[in-house]
Formats: sequence, structure tokens, C-alpha cells
Amino acid sequence: MTKKDIILTGDRPTGPLHLGHYVGSLANRVKLQDSCHQFIIIADTQALTDNFDNPDKVRTNVFQVILDYLAVGIDPQKTTIFIQSMIPALCELTMYYMNLVPFNRVLRNPTVKTEIKDKNMEESVPFGFVAYPISQAADITAFKATIVPVGEDQLPMIEQTNEIVRAFNRIYQTDVLVEAKAVMGAGKRLPGTDGREKMGKSLGNAIYLGDPADVVTKKVMNMYTDPNHLRVQDPGKIEGNTVFAYLDIFDPNKDEVQALKEHYERGGLGDVVVKRRLNEILQAFLEPIRTKREAFAKDRAAIDQILIDGTQRANEVAQETLDQVKRAMKLDYFA
Ligand code: TRP
Repeated sequence: MTKKDIILTGDRPTGPLHLGHYVGSLANRVKLQDSCHQFIIIADTQALTDNFDNPDKVRTNVFQVILDYLAVGIDPQKTTIFIQSMIPALCELTMYYMNLVPFNRVLRNPTVKTEIKDKNMEESVPFGFVAYPISQAADITAFKATIVPVGEDQLPMIEQTNEIVRAFNRIYQTDVLVEAKAVMGAGKRLPGTDGREKMGKSLGNAIYLGDPADVVTKKVMNMYTDPNHLRVQDPGKIEGNTVFAYLDIFDPNKDEVQALKEHYERGGLGDVVVKRRLNEILQAFLEPIRTKREAFAKDRAAIDQILIDGTQRANEVAQETLDQVKRAMKLDYFA
């Protein structure tokens, strides 16, 4: 990645962000903002594709999400943070791109297919929902992003984007649009507190960046460990043990973790002791984030200004791309 790379990444504002987001993407964004030009989209339009009947949820969470960004150290001086619905060019680009995507193709998107199943939308899936990968292609191409840091579930979106880019440039004989490269995160994924593979707000197994200290303690003390480790003196299993998975990620003292693991496997180390250790580490990690989050939450005017400024900057870039796109499509009537 070089200074010339343009990064676009973002989140649907459907809930506050949790430790899984931190490990999977936020930590990386904090690092990348120093070496690349980074845009972060708060994808409210996309969130509405399956929450259209709950606008309050989306609106509230736009502010929750930006508080999380700022609290973990995303710096609005380095990263342009903006609200999707406030960039009209994104809707216009989506409209033009739709012509370039066969109807069967949108239905083949594996992530969309899984989501339709998981959200029980088979009976009546909104047209806007199946089309959201096209709108995501607009997000990515409007900023001429070269890099999109993603989790595995987003790979089909990049593939769809690049198909649109190639079709557009070929059909309209131009090089206006730029292909994006998906860059998979550090490969780290944090399991849920219940031991399930993924931490998710809808799964009820998340530790939120803004959780109060006592809530964090409670979640840690209730974490899934080795279900067969019934007595302290019994040998315990590390594999699939959530508490150790978290220690691997958050405890900087690797020798200590190794010693704990060996003791646990030998027997004689109780779950409660390991959980207390993890709790200390997570509290130390989350405390400064929570403090910053609370401070920002008290200054709504400052938050508004960050969003207004970021959105204005983003609008200029997206509008410029839209102008080029329309010129290529011969829609520049009175230019
Ligand atoms: N689909 C992404 C998610 O569900 C959010 C998103 C919208 C996005 N537009 C984007 C991510 C553009 C990267 C680039 O989290």
C-alpha cells in the first residue's frame, strides 16, 4: 500500500460497534490512515435496504458508529468520514450501473443469498436489498478506491464492482472507472463470548466498545470455555476455548499466555482465574476508548461538524466522478 492508494471502507449503521469490529477492521483503519488516503462510509442507505421500516434505528446508529470510530482513534483530519445518503452522486451512479448487471447476476451473489436466508426474507425480499451490491459498487468507484479492506463476506461485492468497472469502461470506451483490490484483514477473527465463530450484534454475543465496565466484567465471567472442564484439578482444553482465544489477541504478554495455557492443560487452573486475568486486560484496553467515547458523546456539535465536513469533501470527489461518468455516457448535454 502506498500514499497513492485510495481506501474505501465502511459500516452499515445498524448498531454500535464491538470488539469483533475492532479486531477485524477498526485497528487496521487506524493504522492505514497514516499511509493512505482513507474514506469511511457510514452506509445508511445500504442499512435501509433491510431496515426501511425502522428509520430511527438507522439514524441513531449513524451517531453510535461515528462515536466508535473517533473513540478508537480514527482521526477526521486524516480520514474522510461521510454519510452515504448525503452523497447524491451515489444514487445516480447506482442507476447507471444497474443497466450493466444482468438480473440473474444479482441473485447469484452468495453473501446476498445468505443474508436473505438468515433474515428470513425469502418470502418478500426488497428489490433494493438484492441491488445493494450495485450501490456498493457506486460507493467504491465514486472514490476511485484502489483498495477495499474487507472480511470474506464482502469479497463478492468487490467482484461485482470490478465486473461493473470493466463493463463500463469497455462499453463507453473510457478509463474513468478504476478496479479495486480487496485486501483481506489481518486474518484475525474474534469469536463471540458464547464461543460461536463470529461476534455479532444479532447473535447477542458481543462486547461493545462502549459497554460500561461492569457489563464487560459480566460478559467475561459468563464466557464460553471448555464445557468439560468441570473441576479445577481437571485438565482443560485450549482449542475452542473463547477465553484463551481472546487472551491470544489482547494479552501483549505472550509468555504469560503460554504459561497459563500449559497450566490449564495440565489441570489445576480454574476458569475463573483465567477469566479474571482476561477481564483485567479487556478493562485496561476498553477504559480509554470508553472515556473518549463519552467525551465525544457530550459534544454533539463537534460530531455534527466532523460529519458535515467529511461529507462535503466526499461530495466533491463523488461529483467529479459522476461528471466523468456522464460525459462518457454522452449525458453531458450542455457542457
Ligand atoms: N457492506 C458493508 C457492510 O455490510 C458496508 C459498506 C457499504 C461498504 N458500502 C461499502 C464497505 C463500501 C466497503 C466499501 O459492512
